[in-house]
Amino acid sequence: MEYLPDRNSRYKDVDYWDERYKTEKSFEWFGDFSKFQHLLQRHVMKDDAILVLGCGNSSMSSDMYDAGYHSITNIDYSSVCIHTMSARHDATCPGMTWHQMDARQLSFTDASYDVVLEKGTLDAMLVEEKDPWKVSSETACLIDQVLREISRVLKPGGRFLSVTFAQPHFRKRLYARHDYCWSVRTRSYGDGFQYFLYVLTKGEELSPEDAGLERRLLEETQDPPNEFRTQEADTEAFLDCIDL
Ligand SMILES: C[S@@+](CC[C@H](N)C(=O)[O-])C[C@H]1O[C@@H](n2cnc3c(N)ncnc32)[C@H](O)[C@@H]1O
Repeated sequence: MEYLPDRNSRYKDVDYWDERYKTEKSFEWFGDFSKFQHLLQRHVMKDDAILVLGCGNSSMSSDMYDAGYHSITNIDYSSVCIHTMSARHDATCPGMTWHQMDARQLSFTDASYDVVLEKGTLDAMLVEEKDPWKVSSETACLIDQVLREISRVLKPGGRFLSVTFAQPHFRKRLYARHDYCWSVRTRSYGDGFQYFLYVLTKGEELSPEDAGLERRLLEETQDPPNEFRTQEADTEAFLDCIDL
């Protein structure tokens, strides 16, 4: 499948991405903007301040600019990527900005964005995990740092939009946390292979199901579960929760 990552690559390393962007002109993870524009436009206003995390060499930001979203800040920790993208788009997308920055430590003030958007960036951080039910503590810590930063820079009522191939029974385990002060909703798109758009709204409560999931996971860390039963329950719940 063209859009799925290769498990053998070192996606967590900036050196990997720098090398890749020296030769690769563009690559689109999980389809281009046209594939999920119909979902995105329900959650993003044209004049929203938008932050794109791990922009890569995707055309998503310039496609959004062409569609009328003009207040877009892009970050990626690969300086090669940021240099290339800035040179490519500065003339045609005035006002859109590009910054070399680590998503774990954003240099933006609290509550400065209406929307934070990522496509494939968290997947890149997770893809080398051997067991999606049990993310290693190193990666869990990395993801937690990024999610805390996203929550910090979102305005009240702001949305974190996450485009991924990760199914809700895996991804909600990371997103459904009271600490991040957001609700979690799931939408999906794609013909044949399904991708997901998670919409996390700052200032809204977790649903009772998501709060229950968080509670269960917390209990599991104290008292390791019968894994088979837990996975089964999660799979059933996930099918009920997709908001098509
Ligand atoms: C799978 S690519 C996705 C690129 C692009 N968003 C797309 O849709 O095609 C992941 C991107 O995240 C960037 N990235 C990974 N970890 C990062 C971090 N900690 N901070 C900022 N960018 C990061 C990589 O450099 C890479 O450009």
